[in-house]
Amino acid sequence: PSLAQCFNLHDFESVAKQVMKKIAWGYYSSGADDEITLRENHSAYHKIWFRPRVLVDVEEVNSSTSMLGSKCSVPFYVTATALGKLGDPEGEVVLTRAAGRHGVIQMIPTLSSCSFDEIVDAKKGDQVQWLQLYVNKDREITKRIVQHAEGRGCKGLFITVDAPQLGRREKDIRTKFNGAASDVQKNNPDTINRSQGVARAISGFIDPSLSWKDIPYFKSITKMPIVLKGVQRVEDVLKAIEYGIPAVVLSNHGGRQLDTAPSAIEILAEVMPELRRRNLHDRIEVYIDGGVRRATDIIKALCLGAKGVGIGRPFLYAMSAYGEQGVVHAMQLLKDEFEMGMRLVGAKSVDELGPELVDARGLGAH
Ligand code: FNR
Repeated sequence: PSLAQCFNLHDFESVAKQVMKKIAWGYYSSGADDEITLRENHSAYHKIWFRPRVLVDVEEVNSSTSMLGSKCSVPFYVTATALGKLGDPEGEVVLTRAAGRHGVIQMIPTLSSCSFDEIVDAKKGDQVQWLQLYVNKDREITKRIVQHAEGRGCKGLFITVDAPQLGRREKDIRTKFNGAASDVQKNNPDTINRSQGVARAISGFIDPSLSWKDIPYFKSITKMPIVLKGVQRVEDVLKAIEYGIPAVVLSNHGGRQLDTAPSAIEILAEVMPELRRRNLHDRIEVYIDGGVRRATDIIKALCLGAKGVGIGRPFLYAMSAYGEQGVVHAMQLLKDEFEMGMRLVGAKSVDELGPELVDARGLGAH
């Protein structure tokens, strides 16, 4: 099908499945174990219903917002996903260019196929990028990566905390990895285990001993705001506030880590009321990712208190099927959906999205 026949993000997934190489499809699409969390990530949104407000003048709708102090045109960002060259020969720079065209923030993965500098060089003007960090057992390497990213203008450091070991993704494990590893491993081929799928092949350097005790160290090596990506319970959000962390991403890593971990939207519905009860809701920005496929999903997340949402696979699929044009089109579809959704729920700007616009009782009692 042609690009013009893609009317929503699901359409890109169907096309990608047909055209992608088996190993790439296996790595991108897979979730851990029985993929229960993977499925729940999206279907959890179906348990929330809107309570639209009518007769609001919505002639002018403004979708723009800010995340970690940076302005952006919409409340979604491109989250970090490893190994962009499995999907497109040009890799992550395709996502960078598309994000630049739309004023969308991009999170650069530690395990990118392009080098970090290539991805930064591909940005235009004041385009905003963040760095996702897998913490290396060798802290000197980590320090170098972090300080280099800050020097090159990255506006946030997202430390992935849900992956002390990478989850078992069986669709992925069934294929042997013979492709090019991530850029950071070029000089370190010993860390690549080629016998058990892509994920195992690229993750050997990650430090499983990482703990709260390390947070002051990260604060000492960078001025970038430090964000914990992969928080999954309210107690850890409270702990992050104690440690002076300015933002967290509630996430289960796209269902790729602990199977039957809860969906981020479910955790959000538990976290925000607790923060409000303790009057801590202005102390931390809360982001979520996983399973966001429709702008109504984004609107629900914002209504429940998220500052923004990350999107992973849909942009990978758009890139794998149609390259840069595909990602540009996917972002446009989502932007158009978002404006329409705002009008239909009766909100002129993102700060008018609040809990009164949704009925989230279907998520369970919180
Ligand atoms: C990821 N994700 C991820 N997260 C991270 O912190 N570091 C990484 O290297 C990767 N790599 C990665 C590869 C692929 C192929 C996928 C699909 C995901 C997780 C990602 O940032 C995010 O949490 C999920 O992708 C969000 O779910 P959706 O939007 O893909 O459903």
